[in-house]
Amino acid sequence: MDLRRAIILLCFISVVSATGMFSVHHKFAGRNRSLSDLQLHDSRRRGRVLASVDIPLGGNGHPSDTGLYYAKIGLGSPSKDYYVQVDTGSDILWVNCAQCTSCPRKSNLGIALTLYDLKDSETGKLVTCDQDFCSDVYQGPLPGCVPNRACDYRVVYGDGSSTDGYYVKDFVQYSRVSGNLLTSSANSSVIFGCGAKQSGDLGHSAEALDGIIGFGQSNSSMISQLASAGKVKKIFSHCLDAANGGGIFAIGQVVQPKVKTTPLIPNQQHYNVNLKAVEVGKTVLDLPSDVFETGDRKGTIIDSGTTLAYLPNAVYEPLMSAILSNHTDLNMRTVEEQFSCFKYTGSVDDGFPAVSFQFNNSLSLMVYPHEYLFEISEEDWCIGWQNSGLQSRDGKDITLLGDLVLSNKLVVYDLENQVIGWTEYNCSSSIKLLDEQSGAVYQVGAHDLSSAWSPKLERVLIFSLLIAMMHVFIY
Ligand SMILES: *[C@@H]1O[C@H](CO)[C@@H](O)[C@H](O)[C@H]1NC(C)=O
Ligand SMILES: *[C@@H]1O[C@H](CO)[C@@H](O)[C@H](O)[C@H]1NC(C)=O
Ligand SMILES: *[C@@H]1O[C@H](CO)[C@@H](O)[C@H](O)[C@H]1NC(C)=O
Ligand SMILES: *[C@@H]1O[C@H](CO)[C@@H](O)[C@H](O)[C@H]1NC(C)=O
Ligand SMILES: *[C@@H]1O[C@H](CO)[C@@H](O)[C@H](O)[C@H]1NC(C)=O
Repeated sequence: MDLRRAIILLCFISVVSATGMFSVHHKFAGRNRSLSDLQLHDSRRRGRVLASVDIPLGGNGHPSDTGLYYAKIGLGSPSKDYYVQVDTGSDILWVNCAQCTSCPRKSNLGIALTLYDLKDSETGKLVTCDQDFCSDVYQGPLPGCVPNRACDYRVVYGDGSSTDGYYVKDFVQYSRVSGNLLTSSANSSVIFGCGAKQSGDLGHSAEALDGIIGFGQSNSSMISQLASAGKVKKIFSHCLDAANGGGIFAIGQVVQPKVKTTPLIPNQQHYNVNLKAVEVGKTVLDLPSDVFETGDRKGTIIDSGTTLAYLPNAVYEPLMSAILSNHTDLNMRTVEEQFSCFKYTGSVDDGFPAVSFQFNNSLSLMVYPHEYLFEISEEDWCIGWQNSGLQSRDGKDITLLGDLVLSNKLVVYDLENQVIGWTEYNCSSSIKLLDEQSGAVYQVGAHDLSSAWSPKLERVLIFSLLIAMMHVFIY
């Protein structure tokens, strides 16, 4: 996989729909009435045992290293471990499946890949197209549905890669927080995708994983399913450790550190927030007033599944001139057709200004030079900021903030209250969560699954923002 993956398609959907082959279903096009009814029924039956969950993380967001963060989860019975990319820009959990011929078999990340096999799991069941989950995901009955036919899925990501498969229902095993830095095993039945065909980098990548866990807001995501089964509250947080790899990923209400929040913009496909201004050093950039408007064509998206940060041309250009204003002597060159790179000796934090994004409700997000600059070899630095205007084919002016700016902060997604917030934090340390059942407060610590990986030659950039979820009968 090379750095170009990120350039390919910021807005793949126009290409896909132009072929007219698929019926595209946008997640917020309608309400999933029967799914919520079903889930309500389930939670009444099981009773509420709201717990906090500790999800072990590995990887790092460094563009010249892994470029992604991944989590370990258990699926099936007996349970097997799967390593899945953590992605707040998409909605479903899917893993590579046994009959898949285009799925990766090995990975350079130092993890063993596992294919999910419905036949190997005592509890695994196929989700058929006549089940409520299926008609809810597709907002209506599936045309051509006959009994016992699978409920298919197709997900296309922002870089043009895609996964095709069908939904299955099985047990997920997770670590329930049961004391300070202590967990016990818990399980819940969830519906997830069984990946039968992968394309793009999902099919052949040195940095292959077993799948992707989407932490989006839709009812099909694992957190929504756990929440409607009464197992957790719809609040999760991540602290991605750029320095050491891994970090903290937890479900539950954060008590410590205190986190200031900004409202999520309602009814959006992704986690959208209202960005108001950008400061470089002490200077507020002079930007066109409509540049951060929210809506279909614009908006600011928070996405842990994307490595870098993408800014509209009208922000990118003034930002770059401000960052480089004291360095007109730097000899800039372009690497991999995408990155502006230069030689620099000395501390970048002393030589370059910090960048601060200002959001509604006076929440700010500070990005230091050592975070937005990355070293590709000794004293050879590249700039992580990307121009989304150059890369978008349909002129969408999106602002997308990925791991480049989200790392080294505790980011809390409180879907119960429809707010998101963050605070600078040491992601190698621990946070405190409220155990809703007992009222106790427990510490949850950092993990790094990736300490054993081998050195890599290739660099990777991930751009896994969900672009479309659609249905197509191929099985
Ligand atoms: C998701 O489910 C909840 C209840 O569990 C329901 O209130 C909500 O409307 C559903 N959302 C969508 C988009 O269907
Ligand atoms: C789920 O957890 C319950 C309670 O701990 C346990 O009895 C059961 O065997 C588990 N089921 C699976 C499929 O792991
Ligand atoms: C440029 O250097 C001057 C003098 O050292 C300093 O005051 C200013 O903040 C620097 N500007 C930026 C954008 O780093
Ligand atoms: C932003 O904040 C202002 C006042 O603080 C408020 O009137 C406005 O509705 C907010 N906008 C959004 C999108 O939250
Ligand atoms: C972050 O926390 C870890 C674990 O508590 C500690 O070892 C480390 O020194 C801390 N780092 C900083 C910069 O405070």
